[in-house]
Amino acid sequence: MQIEVTSEPVRAPWTTDEFWAGTRADLFSSTGMHPDAYTSPAFFDDEQTSVFERAWVCVGLAADAAPGRVLVRNVGSRSVLISQDGDGELRAFYNSCRHRGTELYECDADVGTTLRCPYHRWGYNLDGSLKSTPRFEEVPRESFDKADYGLVPVRVEAWGVLLFVCLSDETMPLLDWLGDLPERMASHGLENWTPRHSQTVDIKANWKLISENFQEYYHLGWVHPELAKVSRVEDHYRFQGPGMYCGQTTTPVSGDERDDWLTLPPADGLDESDAVSSRFAAIFPNVLLSVLPNHVFVLHLEPVEAGLTRETCSWVLPPSGIDAPDEAFEPTRTFWLDVNDEDIDIVERGQRGLTRGAVPPGPLAPRFEEPLHRFQRMLADFMTAASPADVPVPGGDDGSVESRLGAGENPSPALLDR
Ligand code: FES
Ligand SMILES: [Fe+2]
Repeated sequence: MQIEVTSEPVRAPWTTDEFWAGTRADLFSSTGMHPDAYTSPAFFDDEQTSVFERAWVCVGLAADAAPGRVLVRNVGSRSVLISQDGDGELRAFYNSCRHRGTELYECDADVGTTLRCPYHRWGYNLDGSLKSTPRFEEVPRESFDKADYGLVPVRVEAWGVLLFVCLSDETMPLLDWLGDLPERMASHGLENWTPRHSQTVDIKANWKLISENFQEYYHLGWVHPELAKVSRVEDHYRFQGPGMYCGQTTTPVSGDERDDWLTLPPADGLDESDAVSSRFAAIFPNVLLSVLPNHVFVLHLEPVEAGLTRETCSWVLPPSGIDAPDEAFEPTRTFWLDVNDEDIDIVERGQRGLTRGAVPPGPLAPRFEEPLHRFQRMLADFMTAASPADVPVPGGDDGSVESRLGAGENPSPALLDR
């Protein structure tokens, strides 16, 4: 008897339409994603390649980059160096020597004017060009031109307080990615704000659970009873224009019961609405911005494994607040740490349930979870697109004062596409 052996390659479930059916459905019949999206190591690996190696990925704060300094950042499965050349221009390169490929730097370092390989000491200028190759030409090669062996560049840009890298040349420019967010936050002048403090925590949850938790205020009253006093459920609005982000706003940020948010001086030049609001934006894929009148709280997410994320929390202050004494800054820092600890507890619990529960995806709440639907569609688009050039920028509300300033109907399903 002859046994027929078939060698059909096994397709991962997330390459099929069925996997994304609940995500592609309209909001009112949508579901969340399959638990594999949060728990499967194979999904994680594909996501690193399809999303993180093709998106504009946040790699930290714009202020991290400085002349004479090199930053080392993971982007998907790659390692990238970021420097500022003599003219102050940002540069980024793969962290790999052009001689025999050795990793150039293990961690951030002061480098002066030369990036140096530890192996045979090839040296590169901060613009990536090769400048020295010790003893290499003691016996000359037939043709060797240093100009052919500069570090391999990748795209790097700063916006506001953030630093971004993109490994694909086919992905849209950063400003198209951000959509109308720069315009919505123009009155803050974020490019002039300065980091006051950063700290890092490892969270036993998938990076998407942390972002999704940030995007919805459905959990506010139960998970954050303290926060709900200053950021009341009924004061939350949609804050969503076109762009690769999910936005909401709290207007007004009340100081009635706790004044932790008001101990630092507000930024100068805020418009009437910005002066009394907090703007929240989850910029796809991995950075969460809370922009208040007197500080920005940044959560930068670095996926480590399917169930593990390194989160860097940073507090960035406007010029008016940067010299504020520690007594004025401390309430703001501890307030966010208290809120964040509550979020960490619940997302770790979410991860455990998804890992061990084996339940199918559940329905999303249209009033509260429309941003998750938007976010999960962006993820689906990246996971399934042949090229990042095929990924569309999701649309948003019009530029009317009501929709831009969060003064419109609340909740705003009228603005949603039914
Ligand atoms: S591998 Fe870098 S100098 Fe040889
Ligand atoms: Fe929360």
